Amino acid sequence: MARDLERLKPDPLADSAVMNDSDSILGLTLEHESSAANTFRLTDRPPVFVSGEGAELITHSGDRFLDFVAGSSTNVLGYGHPAHRDALERSATGGVFHTGTRLPSSFRAKLYEDLTSVLPTGLNCFQLVNSGAEAVEAAIKAAQFATGRHGLIAFEGGYHGRTLGALSVTDNKRIREPFSVLDDRVRFVPYPASETEGPLVRLEQTLQELKPAAMIVEAVQGVSGVRIPPVGFLKQVRNLCTENDVLLIVDEIWNGFGRCGTWFGFNRDDVRPDLVTMGKAMSGSLPLAGVAGPAEILQAWPPGMHTSTFQGNPISCAMASAVIETIRADDLLGHVERAIEPRFRAFAEQLKGAPGIAECRVCGAQIAVSFKKATGAPDADRSTEVQRAGLSAGLLLYGGGIHGECLMLVPPLVISAVQLDRGLRQVLELIQQSNPSG
Ligand SMILES: Cc1ncc(COP(=O)(O)O)c(C=O)c1O
Repeated sequence: MARDLERLKPDPLADSAVMNDSDSILGLTLEHESSAANTFRLTDRPPVFVSGEGAELITHSGDRFLDFVAGSSTNVLGYGHPAHRDALERSATGGVFHTGTRLPSSFRAKLYEDLTSVLPTGLNCFQLVNSGAEAVEAAIKAAQFATGRHGLIAFEGGYHGRTLGALSVTDNKRIREPFSVLDDRVRFVPYPASETEGPLVRLEQTLQELKPAAMIVEAVQGVSGVRIPPVGFLKQVRNLCTENDVLLIVDEIWNGFGRCGTWFGFNRDDVRPDLVTMGKAMSGSLPLAGVAGPAEILQAWPPGMHTSTFQGNPISCAMASAVIETIRADDLLGHVERAIEPRFRAFAEQLKGAPGIAECRVCGAQIAVSFKKATGAPDADRSTEVQRAGLSAGLLLYGGGIHGECLMLVPPLVISAVQLDRGLRQVLELIQQSNPSG
């Protein structure tokens, strides 16, 4: 076993089982992969990484890329973190990689304990699943079962995943319209950018008209370009849910485990949701997601109501415990507060008033630079141009925004101050070298 695990260490060139020729890898991927995957969106020659260290990814030929994407807000511990390597080794050593949903596992039990330690009191039961979208669907099902009602309220600009149920509460016409989502059950309400009064009035009216099972909301809208509601908004949403006897699902798949500089995005407003969806950074790399809630909801539905073959597999669970332990032990939330967020804020200041910049939004370890054309319309082309230029400069940059108009930086939380200073200097230059389109 120990010899097998050697293969996980960063020397893949020495291993003939690992394909190490970029042309073959790209050729096979292009030929066989569904075009719905996003592999070739920016370029037909994306880099192929074979190893990583901290916030850097390394190609076959040894080129290093500084990562401002973190696997779409997933790899909070970066690459090759000793805590992750150790978790992998401990959970894989016995050779029990999967036992199905009918048998307990020590790694799953330990994860329940660890999750309970970072969630609000009473949110101590869990439904584990394999992806964020599935967590959203499990939360919706749990809410529908608990209330006996089926309606749902979601927010404009919200992103909750692309399986049919999750897509039903995702506000994006381009990816919804070709499919048969649950349109008749879902109503979208405005997500406030500055003032909350109008959106809260609409929300209250919709709650009373629809009498839904639940409302699903992101504490900060991540994929839609770090859209941050005014302080106190989530608390008012909480109060409205309580007054109208509607369950509040806070989707923490993007924000959870440190992205906002707090364990969860809802900690910013000190709110206690009824159900919390988690994924991405939860395991920090392997497929694992889940729903947290009280026993009255998650232990009230009959056995077998929501299972899936790989849910809660021991290796993913061990990796997730390592994330929680490391965020705590290495004070990564403090690192976000002291090193990452202040640098993002200074970077945003430098861009203030620059041509074609609509706004920069910062929340913890995430920043969105929103581009606009001379007409004021969203400028998605410029975001794409800067992301492409980043690839040539050894930087992995992310795109987001409701119209794709944002350049986003979402680094692993372990990124160092030196890496941030260097990377942000480069990104600033790339933005300054690009021009507003249209
Ligand atoms: C807030 C939020 N919810 C749900 C999802 C869907 O997660 P997954 O891609 O793992 O299905 C995402 C993915 O970006 C997300 O940001």
